[in-house]
Amino acid sequence: MRITIKNLLACVVLSLSASFAIAQGAAPQVESVNILEVSKDVQAQREAGESKPGSNQPIWKNANSDVAHSVNFPNKEMGVLIQKSGQQWRLIRNGVITVFGGWLLMIAAGAILAVFVLKGTIKLKEPISGKLMQRFSSVERFSHWLMAISFVALAITGIFILWGKFFMLPIIGGTAYGALLLVMKNIHNFAGPLFTASTVLFFVIYVKDNLPTKDDFVWLMSFGGMLSGKHIPSHRFNAGEKFWFWGGVTALGLLVSASGWILDMIVPGLDYWRGTMQLAHIVHSASAILMTVMAMGHIYIGSIGMQGAYQGMSTGYVDESWGKEHHELWYDDVKSGKIQK
Ligand code: HEM
Repeated sequence: MRITIKNLLACVVLSLSASFAIAQGAAPQVESVNILEVSKDVQAQREAGESKPGSNQPIWKNANSDVAHSVNFPNKEMGVLIQKSGQQWRLIRNGVITVFGGWLLMIAAGAILAVFVLKGTIKLKEPISGKLMQRFSSVERFSHWLMAISFVALAITGIFILWGKFFMLPIIGGTAYGALLLVMKNIHNFAGPLFTASTVLFFVIYVKDNLPTKDDFVWLMSFGGMLSGKHIPSHRFNAGEKFWFWGGVTALGLLVSASGWILDMIVPGLDYWRGTMQLAHIVHSASAILMTVMAMGHIYIGSIGMQGAYQGMSTGYVDESWGKEHHELWYDDVKSGKIQK
């Protein structure tokens, strides 16, 4: 460009109008950056690369910081590249839950086996009378077996999901184990809502006979007569059974169901954040393990652990000697006509 009077005038006018516009705030305030100064991350990365060639630890350290970056997705959680608490969840899942939960189940199974070997089946003291009395209606038995079958299916598939890689994977190999686990997972996902429905039905049917009474206190204080060896009379269900009903089926059943519905992603209107799923998983597995431990004790007593108990739930009838010996107050009420079946 040639320096002429006309060009000089044009420069002055342009400079003045630009200064005026900046003063009015028309132009953005640009922070000056020294382009020769590298960012701290890149600097750290460069240093790490020098001491450990190929290491990109500093970059990942920054990404692994729970910071929510800006994203244009509707799900804003996608702005968190690596969720830090996911690592804590992984440690709890693979540590406390897998290790301690596994031991708890093994110890419970061992204790039940020891009781069976040392004490054997609880036999009736009186001889079998041969006279039957109704203990459960067909609706009561249906809801029990629906809940029991769905629960056992959930417990077995759950065991494979949590511990299968330790006892099954080494035997059958990765390909077969992958296919097996897919089947297990689908059975688990579909049996869950069935278990919830059957538990609600069970609760409605059985709650009236599980309300606490003062006799339960006597039963509990003497550990069901286990210490004294004396028989403690009870109504239709004793305090031990009521504990299983309220603590096991109702409380743990509710926790395991609610968290299971979240993991199944079938709760309408819920945001399934990673943190939500991690919390649901911990609640689910911990309550499921506790419930399985209690169920093992219950299944033992309801089958080989006590003579005559299984007959009641399978046929609906028990021998009168069994009714009198194990639930004397209930037996008296049935005999006096106070309870009508
Ligand atoms: C699969 C094996 C099972 C067997 C052999 C079995 C056996 C029995 C028997 C015999 C009874 C009647 C006890 C009595 O007459 O007083 C009973 C009651 C009961 N069972 Fe089971 N059961 C099994 C599984 C389950 C499971 C998995 C659950 C829970 C998820 C469960 C929850 C209950 C409850 C809550 C009662 C009634 C006790 C009460 O309401 O207080 N059962 N069971």
